[in-house]
Amino acid sequence: MLQVEQIHTYYGDSHVLHGISLSVEKGSLAVLLGRNGMGKTTTIRSIIGFTAPRTGKIRFQGKEIQHLPSYKIAKLGIGLSPQGRGIFPNLTVKENLTVAARGSSADGWTLEKIYELFPRLRERSASMGGNLSGGEQQMLSIGRALMTNPDLLLLDEPSEGLSPIMVQEVMAIISRLKAEGLSMLMVEQNIAMAMGVADRVYILSKGQVVFAGTPNELRANDEVKSQYLGMNH
Ligand SMILES: Nc1ncnc2c1ncn2[C@@H]1O[C@H](COP(=O)(O)OP(=O)(O)OP(=O)(O)O)[C@@H](O)[C@H]1O
Ligand SMILES: [Mg+2]
Repeated sequence: MLQVEQIHTYYGDSHVLHGISLSVEKGSLAVLLGRNGMGKTTTIRSIIGFTAPRTGKIRFQGKEIQHLPSYKIAKLGIGLSPQGRGIFPNLTVKENLTVAARGSSADGWTLEKIYELFPRLRERSASMGGNLSGGEQQMLSIGRALMTNPDLLLLDEPSEGLSPIMVQEVMAIISRLKAEGLSMLMVEQNIAMAMGVADRVYILSKGQVVFAGTPNELRANDEVKSQYLGMNH
């Protein structure tokens, strides 16, 4: 579904990504872990084209996209739920969802299907986005990204700032999307939770991939866990 090959990304003169490579298989969930400021969001921004890599290749469904503007990348079928959720606070829940809707096949996402996946959003459909709880805003952010009918969904820290119970609810939704065959790349700081749903895990440190493997391989690697994730066991 997605292949990132040796990308180098800069903010001005600041060289942030130093040859990142990763891939997302069709129908799988890949997770990016790493401490603050290690380049996780910059990797997501590189894929969606907000901060295009200066060198390296990004292939989506076999097609090179690293040189395309982000609206074209989105149109090819990549959806984003950004860090901080990025919903419109002064639009209602329903408006936030419908503004993202894109003409699509009959089996695509509709407002009704989003409300089936997130019953709380149906209950709150007339509420302003800014008046929702953190968990509801996260659901709205994911729902809005789904309304674009992505083949690949990028999720940047969906559990950030949520209560433990909401984290579980959001993760259950992500598991369900995976079971339905959606391909996803998710950035997370909640390691235990991310390991529970991931097919493949990448750890970033200082703009480089320092570990790539399955959750079980990471569980067995005490050195990597303590050095890059600050875990003691
Ligand atoms: N717009 C920007 N201009 C300049 N430098 C930036 C910009 N955004 C991020 N950086 C720098 O790039 C590096 C990687 O940042 P990035 O946001 O990708 O990290 P992250 O892994 O997502 O961190 P967090 O877990 O805090 O979200 C950091 O050193 C950060 O200060
Ligand atoms: Mg980030």
